[in-house]
Amino acid sequence: MNNIFPVFEQIVPREQKENKLKQKSVVIWFTGLSGAGKTTLAVALEKELFQRGFLTQVLDGDNIRSGINNNLKFSPEDRTENIRRIAEVSKLFLNCGIITLCAFVSPTQDIRQLVRNIVGTENFYEIFVSTPVEVCEQRDVKGLYAKARLGEIKDFTGINAPFEIPADANFVIDTSLQSIETNVEILLEKLLPIITK
Ligand code: ADX
Repeated sequence: MNNIFPVFEQIVPREQKENKLKQKSVVIWFTGLSGAGKTTLAVALEKELFQRGFLTQVLDGDNIRSGINNNLKFSPEDRTENIRRIAEVSKLFLNCGIITLCAFVSPTQDIRQLVRNIVGTENFYEIFVSTPVEVCEQRDVKGLYAKARLGEIKDFTGINAPFEIPADANFVIDTSLQSIETNVEILLEKLLPIITK
């Protein structure tokens, strides 16, 4: 931290911003395979929260990787850097009183622990979107599973790169079992008491 002088204490505190927004800011983190339904859930949940007066921001892999993280690929090192930056961005939103809904594969326990460490465990709610790989592969919305099977993608999560089942998820949602509407209702019921001020 040579020659760096942070001024965090001079910035209007998070609590005052939360009070203004009448909400408690948290990071809602969706982890799971590509095609599991993370972004779909995050987007649908955001709509419901926004209608109820909450201020939110969705961050997702494809969007972030085409902007701030467009220099990163899918090696373990790049995935870690991808998630580290996203966690730091989420922390900025957190300190602004805003609820972030983050949809990232975030395939390992270590990577998810890194987020916890950066944003603070008390601010972090992990939702494991547990849709089985067979269902994700059958959906293959982006055609990436087919490419991975053909060997055109060498490090595709769930096919030829690992996904570690989350051990500490707050909620588990399998989008192959229930409709998006039902899953969003379930999440709303659990999250509203946490984020309401
Ligand atoms: S993470 O592993 O670093 O957390 P992230 O969520 O940002 O991944 O990006 C995942 C998205 O990138 C997937 O939804 C998929 O569309 C695309 N993708 C491209 N290549 C890969 C790959 N090798 N593994 C996983 N996802 C990939």
